[in-house]
Amino acid sequence: MKTKFKVCIVSAEMAPFAKVGGLADVANSLSRTLASMGHEVSVFVPRYGFLDAQDMGMKRVKLNGEVRVRLGNDTKSVELWQCSLRGSKAAIYLVANDYLLGRNGVYGDPETRYDYADNALRFTFFSRAVLEIIKNLSLRYDVIHLNDHQTGLIPLLMKEEYASEKALASAATLFTIHNLGYQGVYPREMLEEAGLPEELAYAMGPLEFWGKVNFMKAAIVYADIISTVSETYAKEIQTGQEYGCGLEGVLKARSEDLFGVLNGADYVTWNPSTDRYLAYKYGLSNVKDKAKNKLHFINKNRLSDLTQQSFLMGIVSRLADQKGLDLLEAVADELLAMDAGLAVLGTGQQRYHEFFTRLQERYPGKVSVSLDFNEKLAHVIEAASDVFLMPSRYEPCGLNQMYSMRYGTVPVVRFTGGLADTVKPYNPTTGEGTGFVFHDYSTAALMDAVGAAYGVFQDKERWERLMKNAMQEDFSWKRAAKGYVELYKKAVGRKCSAPFADWVYSVSEKAL
Ligand code: ADP
Ligand code: GLC
Repeated sequence: MKTKFKVCIVSAEMAPFAKVGGLADVANSLSRTLASMGHEVSVFVPRYGFLDAQDMGMKRVKLNGEVRVRLGNDTKSVELWQCSLRGSKAAIYLVANDYLLGRNGVYGDPETRYDYADNALRFTFFSRAVLEIIKNLSLRYDVIHLNDHQTGLIPLLMKEEYASEKALASAATLFTIHNLGYQGVYPREMLEEAGLPEELAYAMGPLEFWGKVNFMKAAIVYADIISTVSETYAKEIQTGQEYGCGLEGVLKARSEDLFGVLNGADYVTWNPSTDRYLAYKYGLSNVKDKAKNKLHFINKNRLSDLTQQSFLMGIVSRLADQKGLDLLEAVADELLAMDAGLAVLGTGQQRYHEFFTRLQERYPGKVSVSLDFNEKLAHVIEAASDVFLMPSRYEPCGLNQMYSMRYGTVPVVRFTGGLADTVKPYNPTTGEGTGFVFHDYSTAALMDAVGAAYGVFQDKERWERLMKNAMQEDFSWKRAAKGYVELYKKAVGRKCSAPFADWVYSVSEKAL
């Protein structure tokens, strides 16, 4: 059995090139870690308009003749660029087409925050372009590792259209679900526009979803192996509509091939003792210095109702319903009635932009809100806060709670997905545990958890022990990458070959 793999990771996001959420961090850390373990790693990401060739040291890759991707009646040209990932042997390929991918945003217009209306075409193009490039350059991979719906057509195209292409025929596929709340569901008309096989969109078929087209469903049906980013989420998404978001049937039909691998945390970027963004660096041996960051933050943001003794709650998040922000909205006044402040960094739904703006206006001495995407401020808030709030409605994995723990910032989380798998509930009798965990999705349960944290916070000794427990947790990427290597082995072993129609039919039957 092979122990070293040639892996091709395909993702719409990858730090430091393009980041909207945790997917970007995962693409970076996973490729880095796999490469450091001796695997041969290539990553394909779109070349967005905000990526500067010179800044990034990008070089144009010469393809064998002109490469064009057919989209319905049209064809679009493909350019390929390459650059390196600092400190890593992983090769980064940037797929370019100025019109479709070279825009200022990843998924939508940064000004209006609306998704681009042609995302179905943009990511069909990206998926097809990746396959055309592999074919054109005769690249050989053991495994093609796809991430989220933007790359969901690749397993389907590989089996339905590229099965006899030498470069692709031998590669197995792994599809990782980072968030089932975003499935890439588009109107049926896009099939013709994008030149996708309409015959696969029959009722209950692999591309069909309530009369529409669903990229994520296609990947779940066609990938050799499927994974998601925590074990609990892998179970939750098979239980019903709430977590499965309508795909629970197909997921259940493939449950033997569906695994959970918990993400890791990048402790080079997220290390309070070396963090260049912090006014005061600190670690286990000088944990008391963490409080200096809080005071610095309070003074800098003129939070005049707070002192170093106040309880500072931090949030760094996409501002989306997923993150449980409606609960927070309902209890905000009650929370701020304590000797407590709130530091918020995020962008997302208009509703939460308005809520946090109003909250800051009402509590100028206690609340600091930045409706922005700001790498530095994310680190500053992690270091300054006493607790980190993540009352998520659902959470496939979540990275911020892991970063928080390393920063001695005690997480207050709901028991779901990766939050359930990473935060150990504080036990007041033994002093063990790493955070505060609540179960019901309710304001009362959230208030109880924050109240419990506030209570322990008043006892400096107990709180310091709790901080130290959290700081010593280790969610290294090495463990996660090993988990993926196991899945690559499985994918290679289970690669499904023709006649493929029977396979698709049997998955659809089981999903009924
Ligand atoms: P999700 O992927 O659902 O957004 P994760 O917790 O997995 O949630 O990852 C979010 C990542 O994005 C973290 O690295 C977090 O620090 C970062 N992040 C989220 N919002 C912002 C923001 N406004 N500014 C800077 N970083 C952010
Ligand atoms: C998603 C999830 C988040 C996860 C991240 C990376 O965006 O919402 O929970 O940590 O992907 O896998």
